[in-house]
Amino acid sequence: MAENMTTSTAPAVIELRGVGKIFRTTSQSDRAVLEGVDLTLREGEIVAMLGKSGSGKSTLLRIMAGLVGADRGEVHFRGQRLAGTADGIAMVFQSFALFPWLTVQQNVELGLEAQGVPRAERERRAEAAIDMIGLAGFNSALPRELSGGMRQRVGIARALVTEPDLLLMDEAFSALDVLTGETLRDEMLALWASGRANIRSILIVSHNIEEAVMMADRIVILSSDPGRIRAEVPVALPRPRNRDSAQVRALVDEIYALMTAPAETRLPAPAREIGYRLPDADISQMEAILDLLCEAPFNCRADLPHLADEAGLTDDELLPACEALQLVQLVSIEAGDITATDAGRAYYAAEPQQRKAIFGRQLLANVALAAHVRRELVASEAGEIGEEQVLEELEQFLKPAEAERVLSVAIGWGRYGEIFEYSYNSGRLTLPEDEGAAGHGV
Ligand SMILES: Nc1ncnc2c1ncn2[C@@H]1O[C@H](COP(=O)(O)OP(=O)(O)OP(=O)(O)O)[C@@H](O)[C@H]1O
Ligand SMILES: [Mg+2]
Repeated sequence: MAENMTTSTAPAVIELRGVGKIFRTTSQSDRAVLEGVDLTLREGEIVAMLGKSGSGKSTLLRIMAGLVGADRGEVHFRGQRLAGTADGIAMVFQSFALFPWLTVQQNVELGLEAQGVPRAERERRAEAAIDMIGLAGFNSALPRELSGGMRQRVGIARALVTEPDLLLMDEAFSALDVLTGETLRDEMLALWASGRANIRSILIVSHNIEEAVMMADRIVILSSDPGRIRAEVPVALPRPRNRDSAQVRALVDEIYALMTAPAETRLPAPAREIGYRLPDADISQMEAILDLLCEAPFNCRADLPHLADEAGLTDDELLPACEALQLVQLVSIEAGDITATDAGRAYYAAEPQQRKAIFGRQLLANVALAAHVRRELVASEAGEIGEEQVLEELEQFLKPAEAERVLSVAIGWGRYGEIFEYSYNSGRLTLPEDEGAAGHGV
């Protein structure tokens, strides 16, 4: 069986050495999205990659697929330097990426057309792939006639039909509802174990820690800014795996701890720079987590996976909310344990209006962007500034879309903490009304 071949001496399918990628944000500043990435995938292994949003996972996958070039380092596929896309590499996207006007059969055949496979052989192989992925009978259906899960099956069939040596899956299950995603994931594992799909190695990018533990032989964790491989965790558990087993739970715990631990080197002091990418967390999620944490049975201290379970949040909701709570220092996180700080306890015990005041204080003390906006407002004569001014500053560090996202997170937090106001109509930031009028002076 394929998985038994996983040893460090199995032949490499793909090898990345010192791979770096730089994106230009403004004329003055380049940003290293990936730096010094070394990664080898060997025959017979499934590797899962975890990392925060924006850490460069998709970029790395696109480099491995030959869709974009690396600025530093080298990629070797089957011993040859990779230059552009290669026949033996296929990718499955989160968004399915199907052509709406083509049937299932035609969508699947596309993968082979690009390789110049003759028509009769294309038809036969596409039918086999459609069969293999459980879509028999739907060959002439159009994508819009299919459910999300079935559409993703088409996306997978299109990759499988080429019998790739390397299959890259970028959050392929995350647009699906939980049950559909799990079913498809289990079927992929069964297919892998059977060897029928003839794939040599799979790389899965995921936001879901449990999914990574259930699927992978090895998990790599990417750090952010720049993205580099921060930890590698082998998963030496037999298959099929039971998600409730003690070993799976222990590994999930360990990975939570790794993912929430401060990066060993040059961790930016919490959001000390205005360009820090604030996580997408809304106040109600942060509040719900803090409340849950401070109530019995946790009483202000919990292990993260346990809390996640109780909160009923997915990893990509829980982790940003926990990061946000950590940034404003309402909690501290260490070795996978989350603890309310003194400010966090005070927040928990407070009435709604007081909560806002505590949050506002924590925000000003710990999040540079919020403090910066506030300072600019106080310094301005009219007590207001345009958002373009702040966006322009952020674009020194971030792509325009990311700058907008980060500013909108800061605005959400700042309004809640009543340190500034924002008008969606005019796009202007102002001091809170009572302050401006009363002339506190600050
Ligand atoms: N073409 C581009 N030009 C400039 N910056 C880019 C480009 N593509 C991606 N980036 C930036 O590179 C960083 C990494 O993006 P990437 O999509 O690889 O992250 P990711 O880890 O896949 O995130 P997610 O988990 O949200 O999918 C982001 O800051 C993104 O804004
Ligand atoms: Mg991505």
